[in-house]
Amino acid sequence: MGAAACAEPGPGGPLTGPSPAFRPPRDDFPILSRPVNGQPLVWLDSAASAQKPRIVLDAMRTFAETHYANVHRGVHGLGHAATEAYEAARNRVAAFIGAAAADEVVFVRGATEAINLVAASFGRSTLRAGDEIVLTELEHHANIVPWQLLREASGVVLRVVPIGDDGTVSLDDLRATLGTRTRLVAVAHVSNVLGTVLPVAEIARLAHAAGARLLVDGCQAVPGRPVDVTALGADFYVFSAHKMYGPTGIGVLWGRRELLAAMPPWQGGGEMIASVSFERTTFKKPPYRFEAGTPPIIEAIGLAAACDYLAGLGLAGIAAHEQALRACAVERLRAVPGLRLLAAEGPGERAGILSFIIDGVHPHDIATVLDTAGIAIRAGHHCAQPLMRRLGVAATARASFGLYNTSADVDALAEGLMRVREVFG
Ligand code: ALA
Repeated sequence: MGAAACAEPGPGGPLTGPSPAFRPPRDDFPILSRPVNGQPLVWLDSAASAQKPRIVLDAMRTFAETHYANVHRGVHGLGHAATEAYEAARNRVAAFIGAAAADEVVFVRGATEAINLVAASFGRSTLRAGDEIVLTELEHHANIVPWQLLREASGVVLRVVPIGDDGTVSLDDLRATLGTRTRLVAVAHVSNVLGTVLPVAEIARLAHAAGARLLVDGCQAVPGRPVDVTALGADFYVFSAHKMYGPTGIGVLWGRRELLAAMPPWQGGGEMIASVSFERTTFKKPPYRFEAGTPPIIEAIGLAAACDYLAGLGLAGIAAHEQALRACAVERLRAVPGLRLLAAEGPGERAGILSFIIDGVHPHDIATVLDTAGIAIRAGHHCAQPLMRRLGVAATARASFGLYNTSADVDALAEGLMRVREVFG
């Protein structure tokens, strides 16, 4: 048991799973060398937020120490330098996700803000009462609540595609949910609870055939697999930097140029205007129309560094590595008495995220006992209460794998869960 998926140590390195081409660059992450509760840190909560490599921290610090100024404002030298660096960061992000042009990349605070932007701007300007928005049962609250707020304001109707017992979304069920009034389909690329990878390219084709637009929440996809937004065929794609080894406080709304161009502003303020008078204000083109106020400048530098870092390591190798760790964890956790994996297996690809419960032990207690051993997982509803209801639980324990994890971390998790069993009998 366990030997096939959990590979033997390679020469000169820790266990990495059956993806010997990828060696987790643990030394790049200063935090991984600190103990927690007297134990080496085992970080299995990257789906909540990923740790930061030195290269990202250094890029932000160097920029702040040598080039910092507000952007698009100063005529002084530093103002120009900061503006150039900020726009270069936009270019790097655009290239990283396969955008057709840099002006399709809007910097926002995070994926949540990006979806709220689309709901407030695209939603309010184009959707009418009775128009339908199609979601799935596994969405994060950030891809549910903004549409409910729009429903309050505009009378749109929300329709929900059910998921199967294995956590997958069937294209037949999607087809059955699409109708003549469907205007928008909004789905996660990867479930933040189950790791299910949704067939986004096929979903795009079905949405477009029904005359609808597609928004994809890519928070859990961009850190761990190659994403080309143009090839996927999405209309909007959103993600947060902090889950992809970048800083908090910045995320991206990618939108097709013609869609962004037709969308009104959602927040007003400095920098998003062409001219202002008390009678009439005109607005800049995208992306600036959607970036009112001083943007997250230092964070944009950090996000670009994170993109370069991931591109340098190779997203395909990272994806294979995380899938191997997940497969290894599935095997190891099956051996824990009373532990139930939730919708962990089925057709289609899974990313490095795994949810489970243990009979008679609250997920918070699981996480607390693991924490005493330096192991960090997330416990709770994971901002996906409708999915919890579908799974028939109030909460789950969730382990999520990042590019720095090794199968030694999986071993630690399995041993920690045996300890949970001992503590709770
Ligand atoms: N959405 C984040 C998670 O799944 C916070 O943990």
